[in-house]
Amino acid sequence: MTNSTEAKPIVKLNHLLGLDGISREAITEILDSADTFLGVLERPIPKVPSLRGVTVANFFFENSTRTKISFELAEKRMSADTISFATSGSSVSKGETLLDTVRNIEAMKIDVVVIRHSASGAPRFLADRIESAVINAGDGQHEHPTQGLLDMMTLRRKVGRLEGLNVLILGDIAHSRVARSNIHGLLAMGANVKVCGPATLMPRDIETLGAEPIFDLDEGLEWCDAVNVLRLQLERQKSGEIPSLREYNRTFGLTRARLERLTKEIVVMHPGPMNRGVEIDSDVADGPYSVILNQVTHGVAVRMAVLYLISGRERFVE
Ligand code: CP
Repeated sequence: MTNSTEAKPIVKLNHLLGLDGISREAITEILDSADTFLGVLERPIPKVPSLRGVTVANFFFENSTRTKISFELAEKRMSADTISFATSGSSVSKGETLLDTVRNIEAMKIDVVVIRHSASGAPRFLADRIESAVINAGDGQHEHPTQGLLDMMTLRRKVGRLEGLNVLILGDIAHSRVARSNIHGLLAMGANVKVCGPATLMPRDIETLGAEPIFDLDEGLEWCDAVNVLRLQLERQKSGEIPSLREYNRTFGLTRARLERLTKEIVVMHPGPMNRGVEIDSDVADGPYSVILNQVTHGVAVRMAVLYLISGRERFVE
């Protein structure tokens, strides 16, 4: 493979901590780059040398299937050197702090830190204290920016535009970092966003984010072009925020019967992991309107684009 196609990025990202405040220009640059990298992933040998010599450390302090594997694959597809830090078996169990852990690994000469953490603000905390570029892979209830980007990539490829698109985010809005990143990103791109879910799972200040709350799912589905269904965090039932899973499914579950009542087709998304039969029924998740596995595929391309822009490398895509 030769290095014949070079394109300087328009936008230089220092870190990617969230989509709050990010420009339309930056999102467009990331999504355009991700479209190019998706082409790389579809080649017989899906690998480019764009990150040769760059070392990426993946710190997942909270469980993950999609995001962790997707970052690791994106790094390998771009020829980066990578390490993946696992909490179990590390000195975190001896009481080492987050900052000491990351600083010690940084002393071994790394360039980019990818971090998932249960504490909102952990990526910002690190970005203010270390030299490496930091990418937020999901922090507490704050943001999950690469999920927001891959959701937008999926919508843009499916519908052809984001401007003017009506997107309904459905479920546990209050505790969802995916909801926040989607709201910030979609509004920046000119889409309209409404949120739907039980009042107990709706943040009081949701309208300050620019998303209108509605509590009637059928009304929301009639309005939207696409619905992004969030995972119901099952511990919410124990804490009394929903009365029962069956009632949640009846009131806010995306069922085939609901979709069949609509006079139009809508795009069905879910960031995963899904609770089948709770927030989404299996015949919807696996049905013709679903783009859920496309979202997963696009996640690798989006993370390649983010890593490329963060690293400041010129693009070699030949
Ligand atoms: N969508 C998402 O963040 O999934 P994981 O928790 O499996 O990474």
